[in-house]
Amino acid sequence: MTIASSTTVSPHAPDAATSSPRASGLRLMAHPTVDLDAYARAHGPLPWSGTAGRLIPVVEAAGLLGRGGAGFPTARKLAAVAAGRGAVVIGNGAEGEPASSKDRTLLSLAPHLVLDGLQLAAEAVDAEKVYLHVPEPLCEHLRTQLSRRRRAGWDRYRVEVVASVDAFVSGEESAVVSRVEGRAPLPRTKQALVVTSGVRGAPTLVQNVETLAHIALVARRGAAWFREVGTAEEPGTFLATLSGAVAAPGVYEAPYGIGLGELLAAAGGASAPPRAVLVGGYHGTWLPADPELRLSRKDLRPLGGSPGAGVVVALATSHCGLAESARIAEYLAHQTANQCGPCLNGLPRMADTLTRLARHGRDPRLPGEIERLAGLVEGRGACRHPDGTARFVRSTLWAFADEVRLHLSGRCSVASTTRPHGTDVPASR
Ligand SMILES: Cc1cc2nc3c(=O)[nH]c(=O)nc-3n(C[C@H](O)[C@H](O)[C@H](O)COP(=O)(O)O)c2cc1C
Ligand code: SF4
Repeated sequence: MTIASSTTVSPHAPDAATSSPRASGLRLMAHPTVDLDAYARAHGPLPWSGTAGRLIPVVEAAGLLGRGGAGFPTARKLAAVAAGRGAVVIGNGAEGEPASSKDRTLLSLAPHLVLDGLQLAAEAVDAEKVYLHVPEPLCEHLRTQLSRRRRAGWDRYRVEVVASVDAFVSGEESAVVSRVEGRAPLPRTKQALVVTSGVRGAPTLVQNVETLAHIALVARRGAAWFREVGTAEEPGTFLATLSGAVAAPGVYEAPYGIGLGELLAAAGGASAPPRAVLVGGYHGTWLPADPELRLSRKDLRPLGGSPGAGVVVALATSHCGLAESARIAEYLAHQTANQCGPCLNGLPRMADTLTRLARHGRDPRLPGEIERLAGLVEGRGACRHPDGTARFVRSTLWAFADEVRLHLSGRCSVASTTRPHGTDVPASR
């Protein structure tokens, strides 16, 4: 199966999108352009302008799953919001995950797919208001594209662009709702579903921007076409952000179920022998760097993993897995909204204990304490941030079990000689 890369461009240079893709098999990245005429020539007009509700059956038949991380069936969410009145639609391009750049790349290189998907979703739920929630540096670029589309009579719904805040939890859907309402982008502590009660109490569809771009393709080309690649349970392609020990880090489009070896090869292969891969981002799991590992939810579930929003970070053997994980855990502990107990107390203690293990080791109680704290925070937050952090930290103990044993005896595999841990433990990629 083919995969191909897209060049990651600076948000300030969206017209760099004209670089041609290297191989066939691309969908989202097949015709990267910000030029509306070129886009219209490549993709054709939207098929069902003005026909509310027609989208949902074809999205359901396509089996499209959300690309924002959780993989929720898109048709079910569309149907839930369409059942209410006065709906609000939000395209979520916040991309708070530091190891991901796929949404920014997509919005820079192929914005009209996202904007078409937004229009189609708005039509399907008979929306009253439509927003696009994206990082501040992309706002001007997208406002320019939206006004071009308006002048060309392309859009039925007016779209308001809202700048996201650069923070890990700012892309969580209830935090997105708060931001659109003009409040601080914090996840809600009350567990009302945004599909029934989101922006100012209206039924609200929050959809990742990559999901919207797939909607624009499914509407034009149909469910059978969408299912031609990927797996039966997870059809289609996804955008993967590859970083760490790879020769050509960047954003790659690949079908679900692709082998890790094939995906890494598309990025020029590993630049150093990989010790492990972090799949699914900072809320993801460390997994063995096995080239046969298939990137789909079904394949990764038995290992406790998920492709999430498509993040793959290769960790070289020259880096300490515990030190890198401690750095990420500390970051996550500082990214909470400090609203709930697990985030106020549990995450900082969990990160601190992992840091102690990475730096000093020697205390045999540390791994057990980390497991205990992970168990305490799970399922206890208003949002999934504690759960994602606990999953990541737990996977650190499993994936780097040998390293844990070494650290407990005051050594580290990264050091060529046995030496006590101190500030010289590598802390970043
Ligand atoms: C802590 C946290 C951060 C999140 N950040 C993002 C994000 O940056 N972008 C995004 O699309 N979804 C993010 N999500 C998932 C959203 O809550 C939501 O499920 C998603 O936007 C829905 O879109 P989809 O169904 O198209 O995937 C995050 C979830 C959590 C728990
Ligand atoms: S669990 Fe943490 S991140 Fe989520 S709402 Fe509570 S304090 Fe905020």
